[in-house]
Amino acid sequence: MHSRMDRRSALKSGLLALGAMSVAPHLRAGAFSDAPLMLDPENRIFRSPMVREHFLPETFEAPQVIARLNLNENPYGPPESAQKAVAESVKYGNRYAGKEMSVLIDKIAKKEGLPADHIMMAAGSTEILEKVALVLFMHGGNVVSADPCFMSLIKAAESVKATWKAIPCKADWSHDLNAMEAAIDDNTKLVYLCNPNNPTGSITSGKDLLDFCSRVSEKVPVFIDEAYIELAVGANTQSMVSLLSQKKNVIIARTFSKIMGMAGIRVGYMVALPSFIQRINSIARTGSGISYTSIFAASASLDDLAFQDKTRRLTQEGKSYLCKQLDQMGYQYIPSYTNFVIFPISMPGKDFLAKMTAKGIAVRAFDIQNKPWCRVSIGTMDEMKAFVSALGQLG
Ligand SMILES: Cc1ncc(COP(=O)(O)O)c(C=O)c1O
Repeated sequence: MHSRMDRRSALKSGLLALGAMSVAPHLRAGAFSDAPLMLDPENRIFRSPMVREHFLPETFEAPQVIARLNLNENPYGPPESAQKAVAESVKYGNRYAGKEMSVLIDKIAKKEGLPADHIMMAAGSTEILEKVALVLFMHGGNVVSADPCFMSLIKAAESVKATWKAIPCKADWSHDLNAMEAAIDDNTKLVYLCNPNNPTGSITSGKDLLDFCSRVSEKVPVFIDEAYIELAVGANTQSMVSLLSQKKNVIIARTFSKIMGMAGIRVGYMVALPSFIQRINSIARTGSGISYTSIFAASASLDDLAFQDKTRRLTQEGKSYLCKQLDQMGYQYIPSYTNFVIFPISMPGKDFLAKMTAKGIAVRAFDIQNKPWCRVSIGTMDEMKAFVSALGQLG
């Protein structure tokens, strides 16, 4: 099982399922980062002032993955309805899908309660995060966001020489909105918030965020990344889309990768003022990067409320099971409103990652404020049991 493989046979054998992190150094930190060159002597990447991520050495001997819990994917997708739609649409692959794209945009606009000119489609929300960053920061400036937070937008902004004002989260890991507002200066081009946040899984109160966005967006655009909002069961929070009907300069990113289970099909959308969408489109023309098949899959999954409910229910079940087991083992996790949980561990992150990977469990290991943490995605119940069993054996 633990035999060493060359890269090609590792990819073929499914070792890729360990995630790009363990086998493909050039994919480690995203297209906009030179982070693989910045691996420190402990094989960590500097993610932010607060966060370092551990990686295994190239030479690490890894077995087949039995639980893929490192990328916050939805193990139940894509929905059957979307699979059928993809199969049916393949035969139209010789055509440009302009009309079908308009139909999809109309459907999303109706769902969001806004005119269609408020919607911009993209091949996943990463494309939105990166394009917005490149357009807004092409002449420099700074971006204000929490630390820790999801790094795609920040990395893209930094790649065109923007600076990042990283504002530590509060003790409960919610956004420190007062500190973020105070950090805005004449050079600030954007405030970026991720709610619920990644990698913490925490939320920021809907009312506080509405007040903040409403006020701050008068000075500078506020980008709210809502990748996990549909999974925020029982959370005291809400989408910021409603602010657009008040003509507030907010930008909301949504993805089909999480609740819809379509991470590999690549669909996301941005909801923003038409003037903001025009600004992005005038420089980074968008929409044509989405295939006919992705459009059909997205449309079918939007209608498939039963699949979305199933995802929510099974994610909650997996998370409850995990949290109960963590409680019993004495681990203290951050309450999560997403499909992953992060918790401090009691051994160095690199040892933890090596031990879990050797057992076929793919997770992430970070040092946050110099203390080791594990981030584990919610997979199927079998995967969660495999994770818990491996964790229990670590001693
Ligand atoms: C907060 C957040 N935003 C955006 C993304 C990107 O998702 P995608 O590009 O698949 O839509 C992720 C992926 O994990 C995420 O965690």
